[in-house]
This record gives sequence, structure tokens and C-alpha cells, in this order.
Amino acid sequence: MSKEFAIIQFLPMRNTVSVVIGTQWGDEGKGKIVDLLAEKSDYVVRFHGGNNAGHTIVVNNKKYPLHLVPSGVLHSKTNCVIANGVVIDLEVLTAEIDMFIKDGIKLDGRLFISERCHLILPYHKALDLAFENARGKDKLGTTTRGIGPVLADKVSYNGIRIYELLNWDIFVEKFTFQAKIKNEILKTFNVSPIDIKKELERLSELRKIILPFIADTYQLLQKAFSENRKILMEGAQAVMLDVDFSPYPFSTGSNTIPGAVNTGAGIPVQKIGDILGVVKAYTSRVGGGPFPTELTDELGDEIREKGQEFGTTTGRPRRIGWLDLEAVKFACQVSGATEIAITKIDILSGLEKIKVCIGYKLNGKSIPYSSCGYQELAKLTPVYKEFSGWTEDLTNINKFADLPNNCQNYIKFIEDFLKIPIKLISTGPKREEYIKL
Ligand code: IMP
Repeated sequence: MSKEFAIIQFLPMRNTVSVVIGTQWGDEGKGKIVDLLAEKSDYVVRFHGGNNAGHTIVVNNKKYPLHLVPSGVLHSKTNCVIANGVVIDLEVLTAEIDMFIKDGIKLDGRLFISERCHLILPYHKALDLAFENARGKDKLGTTTRGIGPVLADKVSYNGIRIYELLNWDIFVEKFTFQAKIKNEILKTFNVSPIDIKKELERLSELRKIILPFIADTYQLLQKAFSENRKILMEGAQAVMLDVDFSPYPFSTGSNTIPGAVNTGAGIPVQKIGDILGVVKAYTSRVGGGPFPTELTDELGDEIREKGQEFGTTTGRPRRIGWLDLEAVKFACQVSGATEIAITKIDILSGLEKIKVCIGYKLNGKSIPYSSCGYQELAKLTPVYKEFSGWTEDLTNINKFADLPNNCQNYIKFIEDFLKIPIKLISTGPKREEYIKL
């Protein structure tokens, strides 16, 4: 190979996709960030997870809780793609489609759903709940939306894809076969079996709503990419819930790291460019599992109320804690975050002291997050750095220099610790409440 040719081969590719990813346990405020970035994107793509996700966008004082439709939907020129890695509950998706249509938001020709997506079927939800109840005091705290069971079916060749909806007779056959087996399992949990005939009637109605949106999203995205269109990949949940890199089994069922852009949407890994890690200024998590920086006192309650930390999907009160930079550092490493967005910094206004976890100790020795299983995480002691707080309301500030000094110090510390530039600071729930750096 000539030297000249070799150099051309290694020139960086012009066009890349951008990825937004949560760096904690979900609910970092990714929806708002994606909504902001979506304005300049031609495509916003969901590539993993399902309606266990809940992304809230506030526009003109109206709240839109989204579970499946990508957070670019409120920008009329942005196309929305639900790619193959997403698992779909038809009932939830059709309700969302209905909500937008009633609000006058056009979806025809701009919402595309992959025929490769697996369907969350009624027996998946029944099984999720039955397993949770059977676990008793060892409940995982899943959203009971059927995520674990549908993904288990996917990898054991028992799943049913959207593709099967294209031929109703084949769908009925496959659904009936699976539902009969699942009903036997449900009986062992003493749970009523699902009514196959009734469920098929309901699914046949939902199918009609979804059919016009089914597309070959792989081809669509490849074409968009080759035409230099701007593509934004919208991560759901977060790195700390990744099925491989979380303290399993306190995980969600999918891979949540940017590698899932390849498996979940068919975008080759070398085409991934910017990876924006979203970091909430404190931590929250829903469901069970260890939480080293958890605040179980009144301060935790105060932050929960002020930050309205109640699940978008389940309404459950979220557990609250200090920012855990040891965990976030790991999340940024494993996901290759190239820039950071800080969210909900306004919620910390009014606290006299603010703590940040900068490492873990177990039996007197430092231990990195990556070496901890759920048992170690439950026993370790966080090492904290303490900051003085600020009292000012931050919601109308849109320049970094106008933030109170103590708030600036807090943010600068996060940037120095992670060694990743902070590009955006969200100072309130509304679209316009942010600082660009
Ligand atoms: P699943 O994804 O419903 O199976 O739930 C597994 C774990 O992930 C539970 O602790 C859930 O609370 C958590 N989880 C799933 N999706 C989200 C999310 O979007 N935000 C926060 N936590 C989530």
C-alpha cells in the first residue's frame, strides 16, 4: 500500500453520530438535553430499552412524559426513529402516538419503527410482576413493564418481533404458542393466566395503529448517514443499570452503554463521534440495589420534593443521595464520554453544605467502583469532599460567570475530577433554562 493511500485511510470520517447517555442510575434529565439538541438534528433515535424509560420534556409550560417516542418529537422537522434494539409495548406506544395526534403534532412520515423490535406482550408483564412478587424481600424493584422477560425471550429465540405483525395469521400462531407456555409458568406462581382470545382481539386493534409507522430503520439510518444528516442517539436508563457493567442483578435488561448504538440501530462503532454524558448534580435511583451515597434522612426528602424525584414511569419516590463521582468516573470511562452536561444544579440551591463522593473505602482500603459487586457496594464507605452551598435561584441564569461562586466551584470540581469538558448546565426544567459553555 502506498504511503499516501494509508494516510487517506486514517483521515477522520467527516460525518459521525452523536450519543446522549446517562452516567448514573437513570433520571438524569436526558429528555430535556435530547430535546435541546434535537432542534439541530435531522434524526433522533432510540436504540435500546423500552417503556421502562421515562423522559420528561417541558415546552410552553406543558409536560410531555415520553416512554418510547424519541425526545425529538416536539421539533416538527426532526425525524424520530425507534430502532431495532428497543422493546415495544403496543399499548404504550399507541397511547403516546394518540397523545401527540390529539395535540396536533404530526407523526406521519417522521416516526419510524423498526420491524426488528421485539414486542412486550401481556405475558411478559405478568411474568415480570410474578417474579418480583416471588422474590419477596429480595425484590429488585423492576418497573414491571416486562423488560427482563421480553429480553430473555429475545435471546432464547422465543421472542416475537414487530415484523410478525405484518402477517396477522403468523402472529396469531406464534403468540398463541408462546402464551400457552407462559400461562403454564404463571400457574406455578399462582397467577391467573392471560386470556389469549381477548388479548389477541386487543392486539389486532393496536396493530392497525402501528402498521403505517413500521419501517426498515437500518436502511433509513444508513441513507441518512450517507447524506450527512445529523443523527442523535438517545440513550435510555443509564450506565449504572447496564446489564453487564452494573452490580447485577440490580440492572436493567439491556446494554445501556454507547456500544448498544451498533447492536441496537446498526450504526457501526467507528461512526460514533461525540458522546455526551449526562450527570445530575446529585444522585437518584429507583428500585432496589446498593446506593453508597444514599441520604435516608430529611435532607434526602427535601431534595426529592424540590427535585420532584418521583418516577415518570411508575410514580415511585426515587431514592436520593449525594453525587457519586467514583461511579460517574467509571460510567464516563466505559462509555467513552467526550463531554458532559450537568443537570438539576438549581435543586441544590439553599443547601448549606454539599457533599461529593470522590472514592470508596472497603476495610480501610481504596476500592474502585469497577471492582465492586452488589455486596461490596453495600458495605463500603464513601469518601466525601464537602463544598459550601449557595442560596441564589439559578433558573434565570444563562452565563457561567453569573452563577454564584460556590456553585461555579462545585461545577469546576466535577470537570476537573472527570477530566472531561462540561458543555451544558441545565438550570431548570424548561427548554430555555440552561447555560451553554
Ligand atoms: P426494569 O428495567 O424494569 O427491568 O428494571 C430494572 C431496574 O432498572 C429497576 O431498578 C428499575 O427501577 C431501573 N430502571 C429501569 N428503567 C429505568 C429508567 O428509565 N430510569 C431509572 N431507573 C430505571
